[in-house]
Amino acid sequence: MSATPECWAIIPAAGIGQRMVSSVPKQYLNIGGKTILEHAAQPLLDNAHIKHVVFALHVDDDKFSQLAFQDSSQKIRKAIGGETRAHSVLNALEAIKNEIKPNDFVLVHDAARPCLSDADLTKLIDACLLHEVGGILAVRATDTIKQVQQHEISCTLDRDSIWHAFTPQMFKFKILYDAIKQALQNNITITDEASAVESMNFHPCVVEGSSRNIKVTCPDDIAIAEMYLTWNE
Ligand code: C5P
Repeated sequence: MSATPECWAIIPAAGIGQRMVSSVPKQYLNIGGKTILEHAAQPLLDNAHIKHVVFALHVDDDKFSQLAFQDSSQKIRKAIGGETRAHSVLNALEAIKNEIKPNDFVLVHDAARPCLSDADLTKLIDACLLHEVGGILAVRATDTIKQVQQHEISCTLDRDSIWHAFTPQMFKFKILYDAIKQALQNNITITDEASAVESMNFHPCVVEGSSRNIKVTCPDDIAIAEMYLTWNE
């Protein structure tokens, strides 16, 4: 009988957050005394299923080493970030590829999503451990969705089949590694891990999560994240 797969996590945290209009990369902005990156990482560091958390950091990063969780967890690993999010994830996968088994799982979580709940993380892990490929946290679209070209509506999409892709996204290591490598080699634009995996004709599962698990992108998102984090206390 094959051994139970292990889970590893990757946090791509090498972005410079251009849309945030801030001198500090958004993952290092503070909410309630902790950086967004610390909030994002904590559920993964606390989860008993996850063996190691690999942070992909910008080559000039001088802030990570000052974070409070440095001393508190043996789980932490580091990799150098890349030109795009996908390159950063690939660098982290390369950094662990000699230790991880092909069917072990990797969870990739945005450094800019500070409101992931332990309940959603557990739900994702439980579902993906039973799936042959892996899957993602996502939320159903609630607005009516229009396809638009040059500011004119081409059509209305069937809202029942539209979901917003969140993170973490959790896949078997070999599937994810091959998919991202191949997508980058073929210049396929991938904005999340699932799109790389889909491009290999796999069908990841979708696990319905909380809409509070927002990605901090614009200055307004900070206040929203702060409100959600306060509610969680
Ligand atoms: O810019 P965006 O919000 O899409 O970034 C999503 C995540 O990818 C963030 O956690 C960011 O730090 C990370 N990223 C990265 N390397 C890059 C660009 C973005 O690790 N080159």
